[in-house]
Amino acid sequence: MSETADIATLTEDQARAELARLAEAIARANRAYHTEDAPEISDAAYDAMKRRNAAIEAAFPGLKRADSPSDQVGAPVSETFAKVTHAVRMLSLANAFDAADVRDFDDTVRRYLGLRDNDPVLRYTAEPKIDGLSLSLRYEAGRLVQAATRGDGETGENVTANARTIGDIPERIDGAPEVLEVRGEVYMSHADFEGLNARQAEAGAKTFANPRNAAAGSLRQLDAEITRARPLRFFAYAWGDVSEPLADTQSKALKRLKKMGFVVNPLTKACDGPEAMLAQYDRIEAQRATLGYDIDGVVYKVDDLELQRRLGVRSTTPRWAVAHKFPAELAWTRLEAIDIQVGRTGALSPVARLSPVTVGGVVVSNATLHNEDYIAGRDAEGQPIRDGKDIRVGDWVQVYRAGDVIPKVADVDLSQRPAEAAPFDFPTLCPDCGSQAVREEGDAVRRCTGGLICPAQAVEKLKHFVGRAAFDIEGLGAKQVEMFYRDDTLPIREPADIFTLAARDAGNVSKLQNRDGFGEKSVSNLFQAIDEKRKIPLNRLIFALGIRHVGESAAALLAAHYGAWDSFERAITAAEVGNGPEWDDLIAIDGVGAVMAASLVTAFRQAAERASIDRLVAELDVQPVAPRGDVSSPVAGKTVVFTGTLERMTRAEAKARAEALGAKVSGSVSTKTDLVVAGPGAGSKAKKAAELGVETIDEDAWLDLIGTA
Ligand code: IVH
Repeated sequence: MSETADIATLTEDQARAELARLAEAIARANRAYHTEDAPEISDAAYDAMKRRNAAIEAAFPGLKRADSPSDQVGAPVSETFAKVTHAVRMLSLANAFDAADVRDFDDTVRRYLGLRDNDPVLRYTAEPKIDGLSLSLRYEAGRLVQAATRGDGETGENVTANARTIGDIPERIDGAPEVLEVRGEVYMSHADFEGLNARQAEAGAKTFANPRNAAAGSLRQLDAEITRARPLRFFAYAWGDVSEPLADTQSKALKRLKKMGFVVNPLTKACDGPEAMLAQYDRIEAQRATLGYDIDGVVYKVDDLELQRRLGVRSTTPRWAVAHKFPAELAWTRLEAIDIQVGRTGALSPVARLSPVTVGGVVVSNATLHNEDYIAGRDAEGQPIRDGKDIRVGDWVQVYRAGDVIPKVADVDLSQRPAEAAPFDFPTLCPDCGSQAVREEGDAVRRCTGGLICPAQAVEKLKHFVGRAAFDIEGLGAKQVEMFYRDDTLPIREPADIFTLAARDAGNVSKLQNRDGFGEKSVSNLFQAIDEKRKIPLNRLIFALGIRHVGESAAALLAAHYGAWDSFERAITAAEVGNGPEWDDLIAIDGVGAVMAASLVTAFRQAAERASIDRLVAELDVQPVAPRGDVSSPVAGKTVVFTGTLERMTRAEAKARAEALGAKVSGSVSTKTDLVVAGPGAGSKAKKAAELGVETIDEDAWLDLIGTA
């Protein structure tokens, strides 16, 4: 069957066979790309297969395979290496894209540490961001005992035998702590990459797309002798588990690693404050083309390791470091049309349909245009952007892509504007339901006011609801909910309808069974899959509700804070935006800001939305989530209130530390409070604590208690 055979003419058997063929071909392409680091087909061909697969699934929903490629991203960790659980997680880095982001990073760090404007500038290290793959090397008593790839950060692959073949990685080191995990990047130089590809081509073996793929493919060889023949190198830039501290600053730690025999990047430099960091960025960027290996940015790290410790980590990235990426890749193409998509929260998002163009190795045919101001050439404050040039259908536009970021239209070439091109008329009615689309004061986004009556919003909400991080119901994906939404006999118009589907389908002959693509077996599988998800953890449910600003991690924080649906529901229903104890309690959760809290509280107060939530919950068995007290620490599971001025840390830091230790931090004192930490100037809260007989201690006693005095 040809890849372009018209889907409308496929018989059911042909469609089944075609889905099987595509599942195989896509799995093979995934393996080649992710596991073997040797892409066999172009990104465009891969995308075309995924699209065709999705289109056939949409036409024949009942034929969707359990292993459907639509439900998969990438490839799992290769099964061929033993797994290694990292003693200390291998983190990734947050990104900065311009000087303003770098200054913001410094500001945020300073604020977190409670530094004032007239305090001296902070020292950071700046070093190239090597475009390879990270590796963790464990030394015990000075001997290399294990090498592991990053994997998902928690678990990597054991590649010890292969790492031993790399010249830059010492087998034995002197003067190291008893246990030392050295972390850094494995990479291949440009010259070695060219040479390897030439040899591969000559031998009729596969060649690599770029040095990074070549390095990854070479390190992850089952036969270490193959790795030995590959010219890999290693830069050390960090460490994991250590039995005693390496030094008191990042710079000194790197010097020590160098003395032990590791290669540390020579462009690493200590910089005092953001302006010095940016100057080093410019120097590194100027040398980029002549370094002889790929780098994709500059990494800044707070130099003082005690400050690093205080700053700590977010879920996957440290607060004390940031990667300043080199500018994104650009290309020019024709803007063919502007479509408006209506999202789950009613946002009208303009999407550029482009004449396909390759940007940094990826074929791009859609890009974001952000919002109506962006199209008109204005920023949020009404100031001109792109010198005030607006964007019109037919324009010759510049497309920009940075890393994984969604491509965007960045610029317009006015000299190529067709005479008939007219300014874009941004709709003020929802293109889907015709309701007014309005912009609230201060919001760059125009939103459909149709709420649940807007089919686009309802469908997007349902898609979100069945998404991976939400209910993740097998056999009920985005395509199926779209089909069910438009169904008249057995519709799913809101989440609760999913759980009443089986009851509504009851009867002598199931309505579903008579439908295209649904057999007896697939219907019963679907109902079973739905039933299995009635039992749902609270965090998933909160996320699944699709409330604006409440993402996956916020949902987890809310669930951990409230524990069970009843207490969550009671508290949010009682909360009033901007005041009262429930509101204070809500915004005292680390990671929950006023904007998110207001969105949540408002959603619960909208009658139609609230009724829809209640109908849903009536169908479910919501599983409570254990508070974050599993951590063993003297304050785990305790409710702590900070009040007054803290002198040795900021409020944000105190809260983050306490929560990391399993405590719940609250903004107000009540009978549920276990401990009040009162600094100078503590007022009504300390008084209330005394009245209620709640234990009250000062900041030093707190630090003693948590073991960091
Ligand atoms: S530090 C806790 N320094 O970039 C911070 N990472 O995007 C750990 N990388 O996974 C990383 N050069 O593979 C650091 N000089 C450098 C780096 C570097 C490349 C990689 C590393 C990391 C990724 C994060």
